[in-house]
Amino acid sequence: MLVGGGAHRTGENSAGGKYGNLRKTAQKFFPNGREVANWSAQDCMTLDGVPYIGQYSSSTPNLFVATGFGKWGMTTSMVSAMIISDLIQDKPHPYEIFSPQRFKPSVSAKSLMDEAAHAVKGLSSGIFNIPDAKLNDIPSGHGGLIEHDGQKVGVYKDESGEVFTVSARCTHLGCQLEWNPDELSWDCPCHGSRFDYHGDLIDNPAMENLHKN
Ligand code: FES
Repeated sequence: MLVGGGAHRTGENSAGGKYGNLRKTAQKFFPNGREVANWSAQDCMTLDGVPYIGQYSSSTPNLFVATGFGKWGMTTSMVSAMIISDLIQDKPHPYEIFSPQRFKPSVSAKSLMDEAAHAVKGLSSGIFNIPDAKLNDIPSGHGGLIEHDGQKVGVYKDESGEVFTVSARCTHLGCQLEWNPDELSWDCPCHGSRFDYHGDLIDNPAMENLHKN
């Protein structure tokens, strides 16, 4: 039996417990069932909920993209195959609605990226020297944010009490990360990047690991 659910936006699961709810449901229908695996997946969503299928950009005529399926990958991948094979053969197709060109990037996007890169670089190396008194706020087996030296630091303390600290600022555009207790990861609510508690990158669009000590 596969049990699915517990959907939430990336970076919005600080309370955790999603797997617990699924286990309760499974127990209800199959009280003697045994759990063999659990996992989470991420789904890309576009701004208007309609997938992007087609030419990646007007300056890259031979590069095509198909994404933003919103859990409808089995069917939309077939639609993508039809559209992209038509585009490659220069055949007309009636599915302009899927064009990735339907949104123009905001003129402010570049300056936002510049700002964020600057902000991430500007982290002081002293932020990871957190006094023990502050670390005591985080019980073993839990993670959370601590404010230190004017910066937010992500702290995870494993069951044995070992502490892992990372910068709580996403290396994509600098948004503040949120702790995900179900996956023991730092998740970005802005565009979905994820990092493990060591600060290593799990999911894009970020391309770099978190700053860590
Ligand atoms: S700022 Fe984190 S994914 Fe974009």
